[in-house]
Amino acid sequence: IERTFSIIKPDAVRRNLIGNILAVFEKNGLRPVALKKIKMTRAQAEGFYAVHKERPFYGELVESMMSGPVVVQVLEGENAILKNREVMGATNPANAAEGTIRKLYAVSVGENSVHGSDAPETAKEEIKFFFTDDEIVG
Ligand code: GTP
Ligand code: MG
Repeated sequence: IERTFSIIKPDAVRRNLIGNILAVFEKNGLRPVALKKIKMTRAQAEGFYAVHKERPFYGELVESMMSGPVVVQVLEGENAILKNREVMGATNPANAAEGTIRKLYAVSVGENSVHGSDAPETAKEEIKFFFTDDEIVG
């Protein structure tokens, strides 16, 4: 069993899609073992996306993650990291497969409704960025 980190982004929270998105996770064997609704500070948004600091869209990305509340979660399941990437669909919703969260709900590459960790090391780091051990209840 594996754990990954997920964010329901402000564009999706704003459109009342928290429940729909959690339903897709649960239907696909990804169980939330920790979750909370937060409003990211600038320090959190900048720190979380520090890997993209040199990219032209970094400023826009940080602003959009701070634009409203998000739901941060730890998802647990078989091959959770890869499974979550599949369930999310391609970064650009125009390329996302049928049935994926981004195909169903995303508006654009900038407003693509969800984030998911891309590898075991990043999953571990991202979980630690937002959760303490005692907040995770398997
Ligand atoms: P995450 O799960 O959010 O990490 O998405 P990803 O791994 O599919 O994409 P990537 O890590 O390459 O980019 C991180 C986030 O930056 C994406 O989810 C997008 O929201 C945003 N992003 C990527 N490319 C662009 C772009 O060209 N323009 C804008 N505005 N945002 C972008
Ligand atoms: Mg990424």
